[in-house]
Amino acid sequence: MIELKEVTENDADFLFELYQSRESFNLIEPIKHEDQQSFVNSYVQKQDSNPYQIWNVIWKDDKRIGSVTLQKRENAFGIWLSPEFQQGGFGSEALAEFLKKYPLEYYTCIINIRNVSSLHLLQKYGFRIDGIKFHKKGLSKNK
Ligand SMILES: CC(C)(COP(=O)(O)OP(=O)(O)OC[C@H]1O[C@@H](n2cnc3c(N)ncnc32)[C@H](O)[C@@H]1OP(=O)(O)O)[C@@H](O)C(=O)NCCC(=O)NCCS
Repeated sequence: MIELKEVTENDADFLFELYQSRESFNLIEPIKHEDQQSFVNSYVQKQDSNPYQIWNVIWKDDKRIGSVTLQKRENAFGIWLSPEFQQGGFGSEALAEFLKKYPLEYYTCIINIRNVSSLHLLQKYGFRIDGIKFHKKGLSKNK
C-alpha cells in the first residue's frame, strides 16, 4: 500500500538521490546537493519562483520510494520511482492515488517517446497523445 505525502525539508536527501538515479535521457541538468535543498525549501515556503504547485513523496510502508510533481505550467505531471521500485506496479498505484487526491480539470505530461512503461501507464489512466515534441540542437553555444 502506498501513500502520497507533501514534500518537507526532510525529504531533500532522498529527492537528491532520486534525481541522481534518473536515466541520462531523463536527467535535465546536473545539480548539487545544496541546490536540491534550496529548491525543496523554495517549494515548502511556497515561493513564486518554484515551478511546482504540488510535490509529494511516494511512501511505501515507512520507506520513501519516489516522487510525484505537478507543475504550475499546464498542470504538467511527473512521476519518478527509485530504480529498485520500478516495474512493480507502484507507479500505477501512485498515479491512481494522485488523480484521486488532486482532482483537476486537466493534466498534461511530457515523456520520452522511448519510455515504454510511462507511455503504457499514462494511457492506462486515460491520457491521450496530443502532439510530438521535436528537438534540434542549434549552432549557438548560448541557450
Ligand atoms: C515510469 C514509472 C513511474 C512507471 O512506474 P512502474 O511502477 O515502473 O510501472 P508499473 O509497474 O506500474 O507499470 C505500468 C504499466 O506499464 C506496463 N509496462 C511496464 N513496462 C512495460 C514494457 N516494457 N512494455 C509494455 N508495458 C510495460 C505495465 O505492465 C503496467 O501496465 P498494467 O498495469 O496494465 O500491467 C517508473 O518506471 C519510473 O519511475 N521510471 C523512471 C522515471 C520516469 O521515466 N518517469 C516518467 C516521466 S513522467
